[in-house]
Amino acid sequence: MAGAGAAARLTNMLRFALSAALVVLAATLGLAPAAADRGRLALGASIAKANCSRCHAIGRTGASANPKAPPFRYLARRYPLSNLEEALGEGIVVGHEGPEMPQFRFDAQQIEALLAYLASIQR
Ligand code: HEC
Repeated sequence: MAGAGAAARLTNMLRFALSAALVVLAATLGLAPAAADRGRLALGASIAKANCSRCHAIGRTGASANPKAPPFRYLARRYPLSNLEEALGEGIVVGHEGPEMPQFRFDAQQIEALLAYLASIQR
């Protein structure tokens, strides 16, 4: 039946047009960047866990393993988090003095991720 075939084609075209419109809408609303943000936060969290958590509390709750190390969620109360960017880039973190001072090597992407993660947990 020619009529049914045409109707099916029309339905398919509408479906295609609708899904194309949804893709454009999603891009406009910034859903893709949101996924990128989640990836960056996850990277930042894993860096903090691997390098910092044996002393600092790195989450939204909980106490630091080393009582002298401030929980990360309160860091922004002391100074803007962006102050840490340069220190992290140079492999030092301000305030780490004496024999306990760990050395870090982070690239720009890791630093960005760590700072984004720190920003996400501040209280
Ligand atoms: C071996 C233990 C240890 C590790 C590992 C460690 N820290 Fe610390 N950190 C400390 C201690 C102790 C202090 C508090 C020092 C002080 O106030 O004199 C501190 C303080 C800080 C401060 C606050 C400095 C200030 O001026 O207020 C920041 C920021 C910081 N650490 C970031 C980090 C980051 C980021 C990591 C992981 C990449 C990390 N630390 C890993 C022990 C550690």
